[in-house]
Amino acid sequence: MHETTLYRLEYEAPSFLIDSVDLTFELDPKKTLITARYTLTKNPDNPSRDFILDGSDTLTLESFIQNGETLDLKALTFNQEGGILLTDLPDTVTLEIQNSVSPENNHRLQGIFMTDGLFCSDCEPQGFRHITYFPDRPDVMATYRVKVIADKAYPVLLSNGNLLEEGEYDETRHYTIWHDPFPKPTYLFALVAGDLEFIEATHIRPDGSPVKLRIYAHKPFIAQCEFALGALKRAMKWDEERFGLVCDLDHYNIVAVNDFNGGAMENKGLNIFNAKFILADPNTATDEDFKTVEAVIGHEYFHNWTGNRITCRDWLNLSLKEGLTVFREQEFTADLHHRGIKRIEDVALLRTHQFAEDAGPLSHPVRPDECEKVENFYTMTIYEKGAEVIRLYQTILGHDGFNKGLKKYIEEFDGQAVTTDEFLYAMESANETHLTNFDRWYSQSGTPELHASIDFHPESETLRLALRQVLPDSKHQKNRAAQPIPIKYALFSQDGEMLLEEMLVFNENVQCVLFHGIKEKPVISLLRDFSAPVNLHFDYTLKELILILHAETDDFARWEAMQRIYELIIFEHSTTEDKARELFEVFEPLFANVRQSPEFYALLFTLPTVTALLPKMESADPLLLFGQINGITRQLAAHFEDRWLDLYEEFDGDSPAHRAIKNCALSYLAHIETNHPILEAHYMNATNMTDRKAAFTLAIEHDIAVKETLLTHFLETYRNYPTVIDSWFALQVRSPNVSLPVVKKLTEHPQFSYKNPNRARSVIAGYGMNMVAMQRDMPASYAFHVGEIVKVDGINPQTAARLIGPYTRIGNYSNEDQAAILAPLNTLLESDTPLSNNLHEQIKRII
Ligand code: PHE
Ligand code: ZN
Repeated sequence: MHETTLYRLEYEAPSFLIDSVDLTFELDPKKTLITARYTLTKNPDNPSRDFILDGSDTLTLESFIQNGETLDLKALTFNQEGGILLTDLPDTVTLEIQNSVSPENNHRLQGIFMTDGLFCSDCEPQGFRHITYFPDRPDVMATYRVKVIADKAYPVLLSNGNLLEEGEYDETRHYTIWHDPFPKPTYLFALVAGDLEFIEATHIRPDGSPVKLRIYAHKPFIAQCEFALGALKRAMKWDEERFGLVCDLDHYNIVAVNDFNGGAMENKGLNIFNAKFILADPNTATDEDFKTVEAVIGHEYFHNWTGNRITCRDWLNLSLKEGLTVFREQEFTADLHHRGIKRIEDVALLRTHQFAEDAGPLSHPVRPDECEKVENFYTMTIYEKGAEVIRLYQTILGHDGFNKGLKKYIEEFDGQAVTTDEFLYAMESANETHLTNFDRWYSQSGTPELHASIDFHPESETLRLALRQVLPDSKHQKNRAAQPIPIKYALFSQDGEMLLEEMLVFNENVQCVLFHGIKEKPVISLLRDFSAPVNLHFDYTLKELILILHAETDDFARWEAMQRIYELIIFEHSTTEDKARELFEVFEPLFANVRQSPEFYALLFTLPTVTALLPKMESADPLLLFGQINGITRQLAAHFEDRWLDLYEEFDGDSPAHRAIKNCALSYLAHIETNHPILEAHYMNATNMTDRKAAFTLAIEHDIAVKETLLTHFLETYRNYPTVIDSWFALQVRSPNVSLPVVKKLTEHPQFSYKNPNRARSVIAGYGMNMVAMQRDMPASYAFHVGEIVKVDGINPQTAARLIGPYTRIGNYSNEDQAAILAPLNTLLESDTPLSNNLHEQIKRII
């Protein structure tokens, strides 16, 4: 196992390079025959004459011709994973390799597999080794010519690039030939074949030339693709306007499939999407879903420049493309919708999930130094913290500085496979500056703790801001050093007038900042716009927070003040009644302003989740915390019942903003039994999925009288929409009241499946992350959960390994609880149950 570990500092350039590849696929679900022809040429950067053609135990080698000579297969040397070791090679080596694979037996969904009768590929990060023997590493970039041969029952035959030729192959089969002129790494290779419909549109580039856009899907789903097609056009336009990046392809194809490990995949010119992130119409998708689809469409398109044209030298530099592309996606959504709300959503996600990851046993830097299974590194840290690090450049250098840096990065490294060092270099050199210590954001894991305090000296009219940053030792890293932390802040007078707004970059362990000419003690608002991904420790009083809530102009800062108010009050040592009473006063003046921004006020009125607050408890007690939050909410519901009813009735428009506040009001009303008929009517009369799902979720959570009827109605109504049925499962197991027997029964439901990653995740990930219900039924809940992960592991290791999230979040549980929660994992490791390397690595890191 050790052999496969990648070490960043031991990177070696490939000893041979490949200019172009010729692939022929004779598709058959049982046995697909693949012929690969390519030439290895000596890379002067690495003198070695040995070379590995990666492979795997899923390949059956049929023949191997080297420089025209057919080799005896038994004479070949294979490595542990099934790759072929070539030694003592001359300067050029021509290879013709024939092998077969079995798509219908490929349940890992890496390489070529079947989904709903369709041939589909997925190659990131190392799936190409499940297709043929080839150096499966991102720094080998080649152009591809691909011939796809299949039975005419598969009318659409797609691969990357331009269609060169198509025709009849024999009586039953036809073929297409594709050529992708852009050199690309193996992970961007794609192939799809089957009975697909498409919709199309045209994007006109700034020079007037068209790009033909197509989305392919199975016939029943094609009507749900229109929104995504529009989103793709918006993404292309936005990238031209914001970054001057123009699509380099004349044809841009997307395919939607039901069985997929990831969210979506940016294969050059042939994106493949998990149906969950592409299908969207008002009857089946919520307003949230629409936003997500648009964002993911954008994300995969933006990869065309940041990922495909310029890719990663090695997988330890994965954040080079993912962090940057998530950042671009975030900016796309912010520019098209509400910047403040987008920032709030992104920060909430980051803090609830990435901060938790970084505080647990799987903590790793944005650019890790080593990894075993690359598939285990598609993490919140690589993606979301990676995006925050990119945002730091923009915050420090300004918008123009950032744009200059990105332009330089693209001009200088186009067509290459590079590292985050090159990105940093481009930012620095384009701005003729040195970003002192910036590289530590890449190399150091963990969330910096930023401690701040202020002193006011009336005699000298001086305010002193004291700053200290700490990055505690981790298991792997000690004595960690200061990182540059941009801090956006504002000062307010006691009656809420803004005195100044500025930014400083704190790049020491400790620092003091003095403000002169301050006449009375001001209120400081720190880390506006969440200007750095740190944990801010500052002792705000409730009064100061309320002032910030009303006086701030920065949406994030206002929302953050409200979060701190909730936290302060929830963790107070007082009765639920007293806590609620304090919140009555905070809520009261907010009602008058809802009309200014209904969506934003819906966010303000929403109490923090158990998952978000649990890490802040000294000794985690999910049931106690849930009881507190629920109790307070119930009081807020009763106290303001008329207000909630008014809001519910007033906001009747057909817009996401109206639905947000209306459904927020409904979530309070649902706490009072006499309002349950409203809930039922809301469900029944809903004209869109946002309203329907809101009512459905609340009906389950509050166990309303007609719950069973609604469960049946929902299942019947959406039986033909797999992504909606996923949520039928997920919403039940995510309810704080769900019991283990109910979850077990759901896994026995005829529509449940361990093979479909979305369906498996909907129950297993959904229940696992339900800290309240898991706690109520422990230890049986955890034993059951581990058993379910093992079942998935036997089918699809990549998906199984990503289900271990809950076990990484228990750092502040009592020792007793921790032992009980980890016991099933310990038992599993000691047993002789066969585990995949993916899952094994994760469990080892946790225990
Ligand atoms: N590269 C994909 C994305 O983030 C994620 C992915 C990884 C998809 C692995 C499939 C397999 O856009
Ligand atoms: Zn991505």
